[in-house]
Amino acid sequence: MKIALGADHAGYGLKEEIKEHLASAGHDIIDCGTSSGDLSVDYPDCGFRAAETVASHKADLGILFCGTGIGMSITANKVAGIRAALCHDHFTAAMSRRHNNANVLAIGSRVTGSGLAKEIVDTWLNEEFEGGRHAFRVDKITAFEKDHASDAASATCSSNSAGGRTVVVEHPLVRHKLGLMRDKNTSSKDFRDLVQEVAGLMVYEITRHLSLEEIEIETPVAKTRVFTLSGKKLAIVPVLRAGLGMVEGILKLIPNAKVGHIGLYRDPETLLPVDYYCKLPKDISERDIFVVDPMLATGGSAAAAVAHIKGYGGKRIALVSLLSAPEGIARFHEEHPDVDIYTAAVDSHLNDHGYIVPGLGDAGDRLFGTK
Ligand code: RB5
Repeated sequence: MKIALGADHAGYGLKEEIKEHLASAGHDIIDCGTSSGDLSVDYPDCGFRAAETVASHKADLGILFCGTGIGMSITANKVAGIRAALCHDHFTAAMSRRHNNANVLAIGSRVTGSGLAKEIVDTWLNEEFEGGRHAFRVDKITAFEKDHASDAASATCSSNSAGGRTVVVEHPLVRHKLGLMRDKNTSSKDFRDLVQEVAGLMVYEITRHLSLEEIEIETPVAKTRVFTLSGKKLAIVPVLRAGLGMVEGILKLIPNAKVGHIGLYRDPETLLPVDYYCKLPKDISERDIFVVDPMLATGGSAAAAVAHIKGYGGKRIALVSLLSAPEGIARFHEEHPDVDIYTAAVDSHLNDHGYIVPGLGDAGDRLFGTK
């Protein structure tokens, strides 16, 4: 099982002990910090990071530690999709899984000794959600969370039953630029610039869960600890040809990402998508992959591209599309329920020619001036 761990300075020692305990039981650990018990850190920093790792399905479950466990449980419960339980004994730990489907366990290192903490963790991991009437109750929490999603949020998110999310990036700048892109009087040059800019702005949302680690540096004034990306390997894979228009905008912000390419055409006889070109980074199976295609219309080519990338070993994949049709989202998630979709807007429907309505026309033609 993949387990995210997080602690502040007070919980650090217990986190390290539990980490060893879990690793020796064969679990994969994603350590969201902190990395020392000597420096005081604020529990929300590591707490949010670990909780978001669970909420984004990068980890199956999370375990958080602070002095009392209270700060960590409050923090984690602010993250949509998280049900954090602060437990001091076996019974509450077991019930939090069976009845509440808790996906985060919080433990207070100043309350619970390490022997008991290990037992509580084992109990918690071995229990399963009972579903039934408890599922109705938990679903009510999820529904409330959805209904009360903050108006200030720059993204809204819905999930399919397998956990694959559709995240609509609704930042005002994205909406403004998308409006300009839709206008048929926007020139090819401006359209190209806008595609890059919107792709770049979407990077904030799609990289929200990248993990960080703390390192020590010296400012001109004093030594301090700062965060740095923890060497995550990323790949951008544009679906030819329109996907090419988004690459530079993303690379500006993630210059170390590798770029693969995939080109598909539809066989006129079988109507099945065939890849005529596919060149991916050699270590694609180790990378977080962003498949980029400005339009998710029928979903056919995006689904085929992702199927090919999976065939080459790709595992952690997200689809980034500027504009989507409900039909495309449904088809894509039917074939890839495990892959998140990031989009700047979901339009009304597809017309008889497979164009998104109201849409913005053919993104490839508008990018390259071929019409
Ligand atoms: C840190 O001293 C302490 O306040 C923190 O670890 C935690 O107990 C907060 O809830």
